[in-house]
Amino acid sequence: MELTINLGTNSYPIYIENGILANAGHYIAKIFSGKKIFIISDDNVFPLYGKILISALDDWECHSLILPHGEPTKSFQSLPNIYETMLSAGLSRSDLVIALGGGVIGDLAGFAASSYLRGIKLVQIPTSLLAQVDSSVGGKVAVDLQQGKNLVGAFYHPKLVLIDPETLNTLPQRYIFDGMGEVIKYGCIRDAKLFETLKNKTSFEDLKEYLPEIIYNCVNIKRMVVEADQFDTGERMLLNFGHTLAHTIEQYYHYERESHGEAVAIGMYQISRLAEQQGLTVPGTAETIKEVLVTYKLSYECQLPISELLGAVKLDKKNLNNSLNVILLKQIGDSYIHPTDLSFFENAGLI
Ligand SMILES: NC(=O)c1ccc[n+]([C@@H]2O[C@H](COP(=O)([O-])OP(=O)(O)OC[C@H]3O[C@@H](n4cnc5c(N)ncnc54)[C@H](O)[C@@H]3O)[C@@H](O)[C@H]2O)c1
Repeated sequence: MELTINLGTNSYPIYIENGILANAGHYIAKIFSGKKIFIISDDNVFPLYGKILISALDDWECHSLILPHGEPTKSFQSLPNIYETMLSAGLSRSDLVIALGGGVIGDLAGFAASSYLRGIKLVQIPTSLLAQVDSSVGGKVAVDLQQGKNLVGAFYHPKLVLIDPETLNTLPQRYIFDGMGEVIKYGCIRDAKLFETLKNKTSFEDLKEYLPEIIYNCVNIKRMVVEADQFDTGERMLLNFGHTLAHTIEQYYHYERESHGEAVAIGMYQISRLAEQQGLTVPGTAETIKEVLVTYKLSYECQLPISELLGAVKLDKKNLNNSLNVILLKQIGDSYIHPTDLSFFENAGLI
């Protein structure tokens, strides 16, 4: 399956296919005529898929850099080592960087590619569900500072994205659930049919044979939203459904308790409950979301006391001046931006 992100001179194709990794050379040859390829990956992913990828790239001189897995690697401090290794490999502006891994590697390698020699070609090969349906598409790349996540970054589009759903066979369960939070989000904001498919299955295992299609549907929604709003100033906000509460929960627990997808799951259910109580969402929507979250082993309960939660929402710098935009559903598959203020949260209790 193929789709194209249409962004004028920044347009690029995305291919989604089981086993595509072993055929990567065929697709890379279409967009790259240089000599050297520099693969950046992590110590979980590279031992599983590095060999397959390198064997598929025997027309080029390949170099690889394998970094420790996990968010701390996405630090600004990782960059000098990456640039130095690129320089030692003699990587020039006409060469190529491949990010092989989850969102951490995609964001980090993407930022390194955007800044090395003022920008060198980038291919994303995402291997986590979150990276396949979300982070590898849209051109946002970033690193973390001690003061917070994603504080240094760029909009830098890849030349190509290759998605091999079979790599998810080795992804630890926790990250499957995490990615499913985002998949469910896409169904909620734009695709009632996708939501229905998710609802009709009984587990992630049950969903496996449909994964290429499901990933395609998610990427296609992200495509539409990104094309309409390349620089994240308007419609792209719809992708933030569930995120106001998710960020609050993540920050309150210092990113140690819920993963991002888990926090988004809670956020989607809770914001829909609040919206229903205020007549802003069709009754029963939150209950339907809850059903699907339970199927994919995501929680929906917000254990934060309401007073703590409100305090944390107020402290969030995005909610300055008391005004904030929340993303709500009219119903499943139909989302909108609702300009409001903190009273939105004060009007109702959370469970
Ligand atoms: N750029 C964007 O638009 C965007 C969007 C959402 C999230 N993000 C970023 O994405 C990051 C999170 O991404 P993530 O959840 O993929 O985390 P991750 O990259 O840390 O991957 C999760 C874990 O799974 C392992 N892994 C990945 N693929 C595997 C596979 N196929 N088999 C076995 N193990 C595998 C990794 O080594 C890691 O331990 C965060 O830094 C977040 O800020 C970026």
